[in-house]
Amino acid sequence: MMFSQTTRRERAQFNQSMKQIGVGIIGCGGIALQNHLPGLALCPEAKLVALCDTNPKVLENAVRQTGVKAAFADYLQLLGRDDVNAVIIATPNLFHAPIALAAIAAGKHVLCEKPIAMNHAESLAMLSAAEKAGVRHMTAFTYRFVPAMRYMAHLVKSGFVGQPYHFRSCRLQDWGTRAIGWRQVAKMAATGELGDMLSHRIDYAHLLVGPMRRLVADDRRFHDVRDGQVSDLEDWVTILAEFSSRRATGVLESSKVATGHGEGARSEDYCEVDGTDGSLIFQLARPWTLKVAKKGETEFRTVNVPDEFLKVPGSPRDPRAGDPLITFRYDQDFEFIQAIINQRPCVPSFAEGAQAQAVMDAAVLSVREKRWVEIPQP
Ligand SMILES: NC(=O)c1ccc[n+]([C@@H]2O[C@H](COP(=O)([O-])OP(=O)(O)OC[C@H]3O[C@@H](n4cnc5c(N)ncnc54)[C@H](O)[C@@H]3O)[C@@H](O)[C@H]2O)c1
Repeated sequence: MMFSQTTRRERAQFNQSMKQIGVGIIGCGGIALQNHLPGLALCPEAKLVALCDTNPKVLENAVRQTGVKAAFADYLQLLGRDDVNAVIIATPNLFHAPIALAAIAAGKHVLCEKPIAMNHAESLAMLSAAEKAGVRHMTAFTYRFVPAMRYMAHLVKSGFVGQPYHFRSCRLQDWGTRAIGWRQVAKMAATGELGDMLSHRIDYAHLLVGPMRRLVADDRRFHDVRDGQVSDLEDWVTILAEFSSRRATGVLESSKVATGHGEGARSEDYCEVDGTDGSLIFQLARPWTLKVAKKGETEFRTVNVPDEFLKVPGSPRDPRAGDPLITFRYDQDFEFIQAIINQRPCVPSFAEGAQAQAVMDAAVLSVREKRWVEIPQP
């Protein structure tokens, strides 16, 4: 699908001035239904108008669940519709960049699942195309929306820890040997645990301490076969990093085979920043509290996240309704729609998605060449 520069710009401006935003979902599998449908339901200005999935059963299920009749196997057909102003891309990673570039060329705003691309070059092409077209672009770094992470970022920014010495994150799950579909296939996912789970924690590091300057990484595949299906991607990854900011250190570990840790939001997702003046500890399983310590203290105290951090400002969501380990995710779609309405950048945008991708590329290179690798700066 080809659009001239003028047509693209006109379409983007036209879309931004619209009162109701028609949204299309491309890839109607797990995350689209779990996170994005309830997220869109929070936004009175957004209307889900079209669906796309290459799997007819998945598409049929999404049609049944949403009542949306415009349903396509080919994303170009969805992108050709004038009532679609914005798209959510929730396909396997391989398809993110081609779909995003086509959507941008059609003048659509784009919320893309993480990791936004197969490599850093692809993510930069997406960022540049979206900026040139004047469309809104967002990376689904969902865990930025956890109340405790929002409060942690606020405390770091307002000086609670002083100058950071260390960033530390640990994501431990036990997925055993079960098959995990496209996630265990390099040509579909590019990386395993690195893109699947560590990408979010790389984003925590950038959010809290700023860009990493260099890193050394290692990974391991413990299972070449998962439930009878070949796996060619890593189950474990770790990064030792130096940040640009005064040589602060980062240690990040993520595993799918940490026996006994279980799966999902209740399993270990630990993040700590230690600085000259204090330290902060986040755990996803406790989304409404942080552990804090000030210089001179020898034990951490648990503090509650203040009410104003329990949701994104303006979100109509009642933070006390539903499971707090799930419902924060819906604010992500609210942020996307608000950025479109208010004609401002989404947070996090493709820029944050691309910087995480730069770190991922550096980690892949480091593992391959067994050496420290410099990371391109934003
Ligand atoms: N932000 C988060 O917390 C989070 C959580 C889970 C998954 N994800 C990301 O979301 C994406 C999807 O993950 P999932 O768990 O929903 O996977 P999934 O396999 O459940 O769903 C993906 C869907 O995309 C469809 N699809 C494949 N190729 C397509 C194409 N070319 N056009 C249209 N549809 C196509 C598949 O048929 C499938 O139904 C991945 O990038 C993943 O990393 C993000």
